[in-house]
Amino acid sequence: MAALGEERPREPGAEADLRPRAIAGLALGEARRLCGGPYRLQRGILVAVEGIDGAGVSTTAEALARVLDSMLEAGGACYTKEPTYGPVGFLIWQALSGGYMEPLRLPQMLGLLFAADRLWHLTAEAIQGARGVLGCLARPAVVVSDRYKYSSLAYQQVSGLVADRRIPGAPREWLEAINSYAPPAHFLVYVDVPVEVALSRVEGERWVLHLYERRAYLEEVRRRFEDLLDSLAGRPEAPARAPWAALLEAWGLDPSEAYPGGGYPILLRLDGTGSPVENVARAACGILRVASERGLVSSL
Ligand SMILES: Nc1ncnc2c1ncn2[C@@H]1O[C@H](COP(=O)(O)OP(=O)(O)O)[C@@H](O)[C@H]1O
Ligand SMILES: [Mg+2]
Repeated sequence: MAALGEERPREPGAEADLRPRAIAGLALGEARRLCGGPYRLQRGILVAVEGIDGAGVSTTAEALARVLDSMLEAGGACYTKEPTYGPVGFLIWQALSGGYMEPLRLPQMLGLLFAADRLWHLTAEAIQGARGVLGCLARPAVVVSDRYKYSSLAYQQVSGLVADRRIPGAPREWLEAINSYAPPAHFLVYVDVPVEVALSRVEGERWVLHLYERRAYLEEVRRRFEDLLDSLAGRPEAPARAPWAALLEAWGLDPSEAYPGGGYPILLRLDGTGSPVENVARAACGILRVASERGLVSSL
């Protein structure tokens, strides 16, 4: 523990206002300078923001949604998150906060719950007047999701401690199979920070693991994210005949029109220890530039 009067090392920018609204206000000016606009949406765009706990995933996702909304001609960006506020999401929140539902933290059980909650998210969650992520995409709108299936693919591969027993993580192929009705994100924004930085940001939050377990756990999750990003870069998710294509069709979306020109998701890596304002501006412009190359948006 730090002695009285002793300064704790501060991260650069630690004094800055880290509320998403404040970040978005500054990032919007920077983004307009970098990539102009406004832009017109041609198709729905799904943006997944991912990273380990404490990386700044929620802050980044919410600020990014605000900036994108302001850069689109008629607005049309929605912020949404997983786990959802639906019935399965409720179970997940309970499991993660300990208590009598803690046995649900078995990686395999959590994997299934997250996959089920994701289907709720896609088809039923109320998101700014639309029904589900698919309802937003069909509008069209840009949906910025604070975590999506890529978090499941990283987190549920890691072993868990349930009732003092070490339960191995779930295999990646199985996790992919139970999430195969979830369409790929168009853009995967990965916020990367070292585990020590992440832990210092969420210090004192309620958490069911002891600190050293939490550190080891997050180190492992971070490695799984790295592996996942490497393999997605080399082998993007196949379009068209995957199970998720049927779900898009049921919402009136043509799978190949929804994912034009090449592999998805398109990866954007952010250094989460850098300036959040610059990161959000860079992410917004990275998304809008590639989206206009692919015909998902047009610049006016
Ligand atoms: N770039 C940043 N620098 C310093 N602190 C940050 C940064 N981004 C987020 N935080 C703070 O870290 C904590 C966790 O942020 P949050 O966005 O909730 O992370 P996550 O969703 O990844 O768990 C919050 O207190 C937030 O204000
Ligand atoms: Mg969060």
